Amino acid sequence: MTVIAGPRVRPQEEGTDYSHIGVTRYSASLGAIIDGVDLSQELSDDVIAEIRRALIEHLVIFFRGQEITPEQHLAFAKRFGTLNQHDQVKGMADYPDIIEVRQEPTDTRNFGGAWHGDVTYLPEPPLGSILYAKELPPVGGDTLWANLYLAYDQLSPGMRAMCDPLVMMHTPAKIYGLASLDWSKDSSMDSSPNTSAHYETEHPLVRTHPESHRKLIYVSGAYTPRFKDMSEEESTPLVDYLMDHVTREPFTCRWRWEVGDVAFWDNRATLHYALNDYSGHRRVMHRVTINGERPVA
Ligand code: SIN
Repeated sequence: MTVIAGPRVRPQEEGTDYSHIGVTRYSASLGAIIDGVDLSQELSDDVIAEIRRALIEHLVIFFRGQEITPEQHLAFAKRFGTLNQHDQVKGMADYPDIIEVRQEPTDTRNFGGAWHGDVTYLPEPPLGSILYAKELPPVGGDTLWANLYLAYDQLSPGMRAMCDPLVMMHTPAKIYGLASLDWSKDSSMDSSPNTSAHYETEHPLVRTHPESHRKLIYVSGAYTPRFKDMSEEESTPLVDYLMDHVTREPFTCRWRWEVGDVAFWDNRATLHYALNDYSGHRRVMHRVTINGERPVA
């Protein structure tokens, strides 16, 4: 049996080099809780620089007990880059840059209910997303994240050598294309099967992160059905292996939401998964997504 080791934890280093914010690790594999920041306020450049550093270091960062308006949510996100409007899901009527991730008690399908990175099929996929919990079910509705660096680091040298040159084809077609399940039938998300989802974008399977300069496995669930110059049938065994590998428990963390929590993830180095375990209840989140850059090997 292959033993997958978790990362080494070095508690003596915890949060010591931050002078404007508190940073406490949340799990052994990724995640940190940020204290001392009120996201409703205009934050100084020094605070933003430390938040960005914490994001790059911990991959998903959590802020508790926030009370932010849509304008404040957008203003915070804009400190990290330009904003992305989802190409397949309509944003809020008054705030097109915010997606309301909403599940009503009668809905059976949840948005984000499988491991994925956000809109990785774009030629320049997002830097990250900032999700704000507005209304939560009495139980359930947690979100999981996975660390794609650890997944790469813990492949065998032979497997890394095989993966390094591969090119992955990303597409929205399986989730939003003509043959996809119609969101309007079992979900409150504003999207329905359409031809604009029928395209592919190529990205390196092994991506070098533009800020950490570390390598990671850039797969993205249903958005990545095949490798370049290979059929889906030929690609599936390796894609499935890699998805199973990158989402192994030692590479993940799980967040139990409270109203007012904000999660900010690095979409370039993580996957996430919203659990659909709260049937009969309402859950409402606001998501703002920040544009990123073209991935490089
Ligand atoms: C998403 O995939 O962006 C949704 C995550 C969540 O609702 O927890």
